[in-house]
Amino acid sequence: MQRRNFLQLAGAALGGCMLPSLARAEHTAKPFRFAHLTDIHVQPELSAGEGFRKCLASVNSLAAKPEVIVTGGDMVMDVFAHNRDRADQLFSLYGDITKGETDIAFRPCIGNHDVFGWSNRQDVKPEDAAYGKGLVCEKLGLEKTYYAFDQGGWRFYILDDIQMAPNNRYQAYLEEEQLDWLTKDLEAKPAETPAVVVSHIPFYTVTTFDVGREEDLAYRVGYSAMCRDAGKIGSLFSKYNVKLALSGHHHLLERIEYNGVTYICGGAVSGGWWRGPRKGVQEGYGVVDLNPDGTFKYEYVDYGWTPVA
Ligand SMILES: [Fe+2]
Repeated sequence: MQRRNFLQLAGAALGGCMLPSLARAEHTAKPFRFAHLTDIHVQPELSAGEGFRKCLASVNSLAAKPEVIVTGGDMVMDVFAHNRDRADQLFSLYGDITKGETDIAFRPCIGNHDVFGWSNRQDVKPEDAAYGKGLVCEKLGLEKTYYAFDQGGWRFYILDDIQMAPNNRYQAYLEEEQLDWLTKDLEAKPAETPAVVVSHIPFYTVTTFDVGREEDLAYRVGYSAMCRDAGKIGSLFSKYNVKLALSGHHHLLERIEYNGVTYICGGAVSGGWWRGPRKGVQEGYGVVDLNPDGTFKYEYVDYGWTPVA
């Protein structure tokens, strides 16, 4: 007998009155659905805005509508390299589309393309409030670039692993303050509560192991491709019931099972930066159904974008 039928019969046997506890049990057993939209790279060129709108229309029309949209970073294109006018234009386009095309709430995670002024090619100084992550926080109403929230019986950690590196570059790690906050929050979380973490650059990835270096007899993976201290942070995830770690950055699709944690790099809304699929991975987004018992289902949805030549 299906659970719903049993509950209906139980309710009927009680003169049509379902016990509140049973009603609650049925409600909490429902999977919680969210969408993971990473590497959108919205820009006026290449009809990227139209592509993003088509993506959101696809999210809106899913048979079971997601309750929240979590972004995976790189919401806009190349803000790090542009001046303030262009950066404002990009964030305006992003804001107009997110507000105009869906009523689903967004929970943003930032990527390297969302950071303002880390290259030498624009007109912002480090002392300006908008410099670095200031602009994306202002535009998206974020108090901090990392935060946590509870939804669907799970705890969500939106992390920021984009850090400055010498020579106008970036590298991925969690700085001391963020790692300390994360560790304390994981420790304080009820042990049985499953958790999902979202970062832009993956904690573990195999997507960059394409070409070895003969002189080293080795593959080399830069800190801009995979998070520094992966072992340390991965152990933390395994210890504290983190079940799923979502990322983007590579615009590729991969799934790694390691020490009880599933690491998924979730493709890209923009595919190959709006120029077509990236290494065979179509423009798409992830749909994740979380169950209260810590199990989940992930599906990558190709929303049918045809690149503009
Ligand atoms: Fe990207």
